Amino acid sequence: MSASRLPELLGIDLSEIDAVLESVVESDEELPRPSVVYDSIIELIRAGGKRLRPIMVIVGGRFGEASLRGKVMRTAALFEYIHMASLIHDDIIDQADMRRGRPALHVKTDVRTALHVANYMMARIVEWSSMNEKREISEEDAYRCAEIAGIVTELCLGEFKQLDTKFNFSLTIEEYLDKTRRKTALLMAECLKQGAKTAKASDELCDRLHAVGEALGMAFQIRDDVLDFTRPASAIGKPAGADLRNGNVTLPVILALRDPSLAPLIRRLGAGSPDEEMDRAIREIAASRAIDDARELSLAYARKARETMQPLRGHPAYRDLEILADHFLD
Ligand code: IPE
Ligand code: IPE
Ligand code: MG
Ligand code: MG
Repeated sequence: MSASRLPELLGIDLSEIDAVLESVVESDEELPRPSVVYDSIIELIRAGGKRLRPIMVIVGGRFGEASLRGKVMRTAALFEYIHMASLIHDDIIDQADMRRGRPALHVKTDVRTALHVANYMMARIVEWSSMNEKREISEEDAYRCAEIAGIVTELCLGEFKQLDTKFNFSLTIEEYLDKTRRKTALLMAECLKQGAKTAKASDELCDRLHAVGEALGMAFQIRDDVLDFTRPASAIGKPAGADLRNGNVTLPVILALRDPSLAPLIRRLGAGSPDEEMDRAIREIAASRAIDDARELSLAYARKARETMQPLRGHPAYRDLEILADHFLD
């Protein structure tokens, strides 16, 4: 799922997104600089990333009025911030040392500092989403703020479920899907929807884009969970099977547990398992049909997104939505 061609295919300039991201931080007059919070945020922006969420906001925005493009870009920046803050929290929860090819923030600073930076970002985003760039609050923006705050809540609930079910091999597919929806899919759903809403698209259109984004988000996270087993270590900047090593019971693991020859090997695993046992389980899961089955479910969600968007066929922005969805089918 390389993102490199996506911006180009959509005619989106990533450096413009980055400029808006930085300008939003620069407009924060209360944030002391230099300070660990300010410096960390700027460094996080400059570490890059695929910028998928702002791209989704922009695509959503193309379903509305072109004259509101500037506002859509600001919404795009807010969503990348939510994502960035969630990654700081996620790396602490997942005890992941690397992020975007660099040491994770909690490694560069310490857990308490990283937590504070992420909390500040989340709080600011919710606050900023209630106002326009002149810091005026309108009823419309306040409503949007409530919706965005709801997404942050869902994200926390999803991540909490992840924390709470480490090495819990009784986790069902339904629970896994529910967790995935909360921690990843609803944010992506909201990106498409709020992009459209910022550009004053109709409620019906916004709701449909939400459903498309949710299915794409499910496809995306399942794919990410598969890649954790299959991608060579250097490509993701962490060893293969990092999720399982950390106790995260993802879809490939749940599906592999159905195989009677693999189940005992997996069920024995815990936080203190010797490396050889963990390595063997990861290798066997990676070589099992659980990987293909999980990949198939990811593709099924991407296809569901394609079906859900069908009624929008007549819209000029439909082609962009197709390009976006194809990226998730890749
Ligand atoms: C990582 O998201 C977190 C997941 C939901 C799997 P991305 O893969 O979009 O991360 P960046 O933004 O490109 O770094
Ligand atoms: C996604 O889960 C993280 C969030 C939704 C915040 P992962 O834990 O799978 O993401 P990566 O693999 O660390 O990027
Ligand atoms: Mg993680
Ligand atoms: Mg992952």
